[in-house]
Amino acid sequence: MARISLRVDGMLVSDDVEPRTLLVHYLRETLGKTGTVVGCDTSNCGACTVHLDGESVKSCNMLAVQADGHEITTIEGLAATAGADLHPVQEAFRECHGLQCGYCTPGMIMQSVDLLNRNPKPTETEIREGLEGNLCRCTGYHNIVRAVQYASGQLEDATAGVSEP
Ligand code: FES
Ligand code: FES
Repeated sequence: MARISLRVDGMLVSDDVEPRTLLVHYLRETLGKTGTVVGCDTSNCGACTVHLDGESVKSCNMLAVQADGHEITTIEGLAATAGADLHPVQEAFRECHGLQCGYCTPGMIMQSVDLLNRNPKPTETEIREGLEGNLCRCTGYHNIVRAVQYASGQLEDATAGVSEP
């Protein structure tokens, strides 16, 4: 067993884990963070996407021990980073009907937030490229792209509002 200490959704946690434990399994089974889901376990679908020190990672593609000393944000802690009930990207997915069954949605939203952090005004092509590691079986992606465009506009308006005298 290996001792790991990290911050998850703002909470400091410390646990003994098997060195082979995947981060996604640690989040779900040890911490009960079941909002992060497993779609494939082979780093293809993106359903398990979380943020590691503010950047998206597929949590089935790294070991829990690799998160030692780092900060993880899951879909369950995302809204708190925006100081709201829902993060603006979560609001946008709801507003634009960017989901159907919802299975891909936690990962899709975490990846979208990372995309918008790096590129606040992405083109449609840049959105599709930025989300190419996240698969959705239901929506055909159209409303997901619309949701990211909507969130981009909302975040731009919020920034403009803050900067007004
Ligand atoms: Fe991690 Fe599919 S469960 S990429
Ligand atoms: Fe069902 Fe994306 S909404 S997989």
